[in-house]
Amino acid sequence: MPEAYNLGAASSKIIKKKLKMSPKIETIEVETISKDGKIALIALLNKAIQVEYGLILNYPRIIEYLVGYEKINDELFISDLERLGEDSTRHLGWVVDIIKSLGGEPVWQMGITERLFDARKLGTQQLEKEKMAVELYKEVVHVARMNVVKEKVLEFSGKLIKTDRNGLQEEVREASEVIDRLERIEIDEIRHVKTVHDMLATYDFLMGGES
Ligand SMILES: [Fe+2]
Repeated sequence: MPEAYNLGAASSKIIKKKLKMSPKIETIEVETISKDGKIALIALLNKAIQVEYGLILNYPRIIEYLVGYEKINDELFISDLERLGEDSTRHLGWVVDIIKSLGGEPVWQMGITERLFDARKLGTQQLEKEKMAVELYKEVVHVARMNVVKEKVLEFSGKLIKTDRNGLQEEVREASEVIDRLERIEIDEIRHVKTVHDMLATYDFLMGGES
């Protein structure tokens, strides 16, 4: 057989292989968040950035003050404070990710950083912020649930692509994925309120003060 024929057969094999490997594009119907829902969620989640940011900044400050000035070395107490800070940092990352996935821009606004003269006062303010976070995420979850719509999208390599009336394409996320993550944050925040509340009582006990 002439060499050219062999080459032809080989290259057609490659083409077939490439076609087989190319990802399938399918039109499917999925539940996503409506346009109005996205706008409302982006605004609320940008408020959440500010709340989480305030919490993140203050937990390490409280730890430093308690260990450095008040000589509190209760490991469980300090590790609880560290975990609160870590959770807030993780939440902030998720919130930024969700805002971007909804087509929004995260707005970084720093709240007022209180001067640290009184760890208990700052702890009480953290408790108020955690309560604020619970209310905020409750609203966020409610708004997300109320704005679920069915949309036809293209599924391509595991991505969902929506085409608008002007032919512009954007990647969308399934509503359940967004709502599951937001509910997870809400559950964490409810736990945080209880943790900070209990920690204030422990602090009073350790300091031999009010209970
Ligand atoms: Fe929190």
